[in-house]
Amino acid sequence: MGMNIFQKICNSHKLDYRQTELAIIPDQVLTHDGTATPVYLQLEAIGIKKIKPFTVTYVDHNTLQVGFRNADDHRYLKAMAAKLGSIFSKPGNGICHQVHLENFARPGQILVGSDSHTPMAGAVGMLSIGAGGLDVATVMAGEPLFVKTPKVAGIKLEGRLPPWSAGKDVILYLLKLLSVKGGVGKIIEFFGPGVETLSIPDRATICNMSAEMGVTSCIFPSDGQTERFLKSFGRRNEWQALAADNDAAYAETIAIDLGGIEPLIALPHSPDNVKKVSEVEGVPLWQVGIGSCTNASFKDLAVVAHILEAKTVHPDVDLVISPGSRRTAMQIAETGNLKKLMAAGARILENTCGPCNGVGMSPASSGNSLRTYNRNYKGRSGTLDANVYLGSPETAAASALFGCITDPRKLGPYPGISMPESFPDNSNMFIAPADDPESVAVVKGPNIQPMPLGSPLEMRLECPVKLKTGDNITTDHILPGGAEMLSLRSNVPASVPYVFNRLDPDFAGRVDTLPGQWTIVGGDNFGQGSSREHAVMVPLLIGMKMVIAKSFARTFRQNLINFGAVPLVFKNPEDYDQIETDDLLVIEDAIIQVKTGGVKVVNRSKNFTFETTGHFTDREKELILQGGLLNYLRLKNI
Ligand code: F3S
Repeated sequence: MGMNIFQKICNSHKLDYRQTELAIIPDQVLTHDGTATPVYLQLEAIGIKKIKPFTVTYVDHNTLQVGFRNADDHRYLKAMAAKLGSIFSKPGNGICHQVHLENFARPGQILVGSDSHTPMAGAVGMLSIGAGGLDVATVMAGEPLFVKTPKVAGIKLEGRLPPWSAGKDVILYLLKLLSVKGGVGKIIEFFGPGVETLSIPDRATICNMSAEMGVTSCIFPSDGQTERFLKSFGRRNEWQALAADNDAAYAETIAIDLGGIEPLIALPHSPDNVKKVSEVEGVPLWQVGIGSCTNASFKDLAVVAHILEAKTVHPDVDLVISPGSRRTAMQIAETGNLKKLMAAGARILENTCGPCNGVGMSPASSGNSLRTYNRNYKGRSGTLDANVYLGSPETAAASALFGCITDPRKLGPYPGISMPESFPDNSNMFIAPADDPESVAVVKGPNIQPMPLGSPLEMRLECPVKLKTGDNITTDHILPGGAEMLSLRSNVPASVPYVFNRLDPDFAGRVDTLPGQWTIVGGDNFGQGSSREHAVMVPLLIGMKMVIAKSFARTFRQNLINFGAVPLVFKNPEDYDQIETDDLLVIEDAIIQVKTGGVKVVNRSKNFTFETTGHFTDREKELILQGGLLNYLRLKNI
């Protein structure tokens, strides 16, 4: 039996994919300002003097620098990167995933990143996995990342995309088919004759947004398209061919005829709420946003420029465009595309995450915004009652012209976009680690506060239920993004008022003054979305000790364990229905029960007992017993 790509990369990295858990030492690491301050604070706490793997620290999430907080964070990150041995990507160089794809991603290697969209590097055949900040700090310290071995789902692509359909439509098609929890515990691997018809930017969009299905990773073969892409960024020598064997086996296989994929669109407020664009044409728009790590490549912006050439954006629409990287921005300038965009009325933003994460360009109250981004959770745009739609650059540009959701196929012949032979250099936007690390002064502004530590597990847990939620709760629900929140990433206590405020505006006030610990009860796929560990750290600080859910998103579950909180899954999902907010849940002999893996929970308020399971590995049990990864590492003395 032949091997698939995942198995080949495992073999080349001496990982046994037959085991239930992989201990991954990656070739590369990426982190960014949205998650990196805790990463570096944790490295300081562990006492690490030198980062082991090749690491790039990006500043891309909040570059507005309104007030001193972000600027202080950026100064701290720059100094820590220089001191501990990471490359520093300056603010304005671009969004981590796009910049990494252009400058560092390599076929056959492994990348770990403190961001859920890290799988984007799979576009060039790199096994790339998102993780929580503490996991990434551990990896930077030279320890492995532990990941439950995923199943490999093979997606066979046949045919070729029709004109006006793009990579975005492929991933929206998959989201409609599989849902936001359809990729949990899986790697999605593409193969088949349709692969070679997809450009690297299209593959990047697909891999990037596979995060919305909860995948562990997503990967394409490395082929001639990959070679041309790397060559255009001056990295032809880093290319290697990589493909599954013809007789490779997959845990499941789905066949997709690319020729049948129409322009699709995700409706508010979930990326899997997908319809054909033709079914929702005419919805009036207030804003169109083109950018984010998902769709801000040269190809994306060039096609928009061609559509808008010698035309004007509809008077009712605000069109905002943020290029994914400085190299992309310089290229659209050099090729005359920037002029076309500006002449049509587009507002050109900095090369950062920006509006994707609610950092500026929030829609007007109850406004409709069509974006090429990857998430449309309620409130993520910064406007709680806005309606955010997700579509391709083609659909976004057509809609910007007509002022309403518009099927791009009515624009006539598709503009032929050829990828450039070469891109401008951006090496002056990377700062190398210091030659003399001792000489680097690290200044911490007043907003940079120590990160909280978890506490060792006690023998008896007595936790009232302070919130009961439905399915698919995102980390944005638990702790929102946006400019204000991102300026508090380094200050966990200051973030407390925002915990769960999207679900219950009074939540922090109700809970903050409680003397003891408490719990949350959730539905399926609890904690999906961003990998931000603040969604664990901040509730932990005010007493959250466990979460009981029907199922968890992978990174959120791991973040809970990393901070010594207990994730438990209902053995019988119907028990979820019997629990109400303020019920008192008690676990006797918690230490013994966690060690065995099955945990009986007594609902004292309703007088019944229900069974849960942790699916804990031996290492996870140790982490929970000791109060989290930081305590564990200190004891281990790494
Ligand atoms: Fe940034 Fe949005 Fe991507 S916040 S990393 S552009 S998902």
